[in-house]
Amino acid sequence: MVTVIALKRYINALCRHFSTFDSDKITMIVSFVVAAAENNAIGKDNTLPWRLPEDLKFFKRTTTGKAVVMGRKTYQSLGKPLPGRLNVVLSRTAGLALPEGVLLFADLKAALAALEETGIEEACIIGGGVIFELAMPLAERLYLTRVHAVVDGDTFFPAIDHSHWLLKWEKKHEADEKHLYPFTFQEYERIEL
Ligand SMILES: NC(=O)c1ccc[n+]([C@@H]2O[C@H](COP(=O)([O-])OP(=O)(O)OC[C@H]3O[C@@H](n4cnc5c(N)ncnc54)[C@H](OP(=O)(O)O)[C@@H]3O)[C@@H](O)[C@H]2O)c1
Repeated sequence: MVTVIALKRYINALCRHFSTFDSDKITMIVSFVVAAAENNAIGKDNTLPWRLPEDLKFFKRTTTGKAVVMGRKTYQSLGKPLPGRLNVVLSRTAGLALPEGVLLFADLKAALAALEETGIEEACIIGGGVIFELAMPLAERLYLTRVHAVVDGDTFFPAIDHSHWLLKWEKKHEADEKHLYPFTFQEYERIEL
């Protein structure tokens, strides 16, 4: 009898584990929002390797009203929650002190499963390098600001396989007095072959 109860508990635990997130069943969009140099550098010394005000405006327009999912280091580099967005931080440090309203998860799929439950339309993965790498198989949309420079970085965006990503639109911004580098906003959708 004890063995049957233990077996049932084990099966229930397995069901809970595998039902937390099924990427085929979710209705929300999982996207990446990233600015990456030609050499895929995205960060240096836990900050951005450039100052591009128009890209910050694009980031704000693209993510407002949605959820933003980020690693603990990216959250700390921002220093505070992004207003007008549901902020989700990934960390393995249980009880990490975060302001009210910021959600903490120790697991990406559990975070996405919880966001799906809220009915939110889009979960934007906003970095950094570790989280982009982790989430790459789950992303179906990519908002990429390609910064036309090779910069010194210590954090990188994973190389994307262009045979799996369709470019939907792009718009170039030239370098000017406020922008040291030219850059191109691009939006891609993942295509299944
Ligand atoms: N250019 C861009 O678009 C862009 C965007 C975002 C960030 N960045 C840059 O990227 C850099 C930061 O990126 P990063 O790769 O160093 O760090 P990160 O991805 O922001 O955060 C890494 C942290 O996330 C947590 N984490 C990692 N894997 C996890 C998992 N499987 N489950 C739960 N938590 C997990 C861990 O936190 P704990 O150690 O607390 O457990 C880990 O230390 C900065 O330079 C930032 O400026 C650039």
